[in-house]
Amino acid sequence: MNRKKIFCFLLTGAAFSACATRQVTTEEPGLKSVLGDKFLVGVALNTHQSSGRDTAAVRIVQRHFNSIVAENCMKCQVIHPQEDRYDFRQADEFVKFGEENGMAVIGHCLIWHSQLAPWFCVDKEGCNVSAEILKQRMKDHITTIVSRYRGRIKGWDVVNEAIMEDGSYRQSKFYEILGESFISLAFQYAQEADPDAELYYNDYNMHTPGKRRTVVKLVNDLRAAGLRITAVGMQGHVGMDYPDLDEFEQSLQAYAATGVKVMITEWDMSALPMVNHTANVSDTVAFRKALNPYPEALPDSVSDRWNAKMTAYMNLFIKHADVISRVTAWGVSDGDSWKNDFPVHGRTDYALLFDRNYQPKPFVKELLNTKSEAY
Ligand code: XIL
Repeated sequence: MNRKKIFCFLLTGAAFSACATRQVTTEEPGLKSVLGDKFLVGVALNTHQSSGRDTAAVRIVQRHFNSIVAENCMKCQVIHPQEDRYDFRQADEFVKFGEENGMAVIGHCLIWHSQLAPWFCVDKEGCNVSAEILKQRMKDHITTIVSRYRGRIKGWDVVNEAIMEDGSYRQSKFYEILGESFISLAFQYAQEADPDAELYYNDYNMHTPGKRRTVVKLVNDLRAAGLRITAVGMQGHVGMDYPDLDEFEQSLQAYAATGVKVMITEWDMSALPMVNHTANVSDTVAFRKALNPYPEALPDSVSDRWNAKMTAYMNLFIKHADVISRVTAWGVSDGDSWKNDFPVHGRTDYALLFDRNYQPKPFVKELLNTKSEAY
């Protein structure tokens, strides 16, 4: 063989082995191949991930998930910081990432009291605007965002966290100014802006009987008013001992009984001492060393308990797969999780499906093995 031929031979060999390696990788089962016939398997992305910069996380996302949701970049304070200014840069990038990877893209969230741009509900003097002005602002906000991504976003969290655990309405500015009607208005504006998008009500602590009662009523009322609500999102920010799994299941069944789908939209499980039982982002507690017991690694005994409880949740989701349309983890790896800073800033938590080195947790490995064994 002359030098040119040898070079060609090596090149072909290299290309062949690259292909072979690639094939092997894509054939390795991911979570979506294990669970994809049951429900969408989603994950929340931060902007390092949706921009492609965090390549290690992107590899995990591509292999394991078939749906993404925006962790922060579609929230009002980012996407609509001033009344006359929208900033779509990060949201555009996020939607493009989902499309390029063939994923179901979920928009989070249209109307929420947290991470709300400061101008939204008040006038220049800081006083609440009138009901008419707030309606107009909500309509502009929802119409502009939802129509921009019409046909590209599978579903929207239309209203987030409007109801308290006791079943009363949260005293947000939206509620102060418009009463309960802000919720139906939001659904109406969203459905007008994209008649094909799925529309969701999303909240935390959805297992509590009070919240369950009001959410069920809300779904029934929206439907009776001729509005579309496709699913109820149970966020699923849980701890190892809270909530009670039976209560969680009872809520899941109660929501499904209304005829809508149920989604687990922000699943994570803190492995740390629980200092409160809320996921309201402003309910924080000061750091103390005692609240951060595992800064280096999770002891095996705690890890075992954590994995067993995650398995119990996953089994529950699988048991109710006929009514669950999506299960989404709130972040890719432990290092990304908001739980490191909530409700106590600066802790080291272990809340997600992949560890800080992007390795699957034992319960995830077990799930993946089930699939390999089935082949
Ligand atoms: C969290 C994000 O994960 C954090 O990065 C951010 O600082 C605060 O919000 N319920 C929700 C999510 O609906 O939007 C919140 O996300 C977590 C609680």
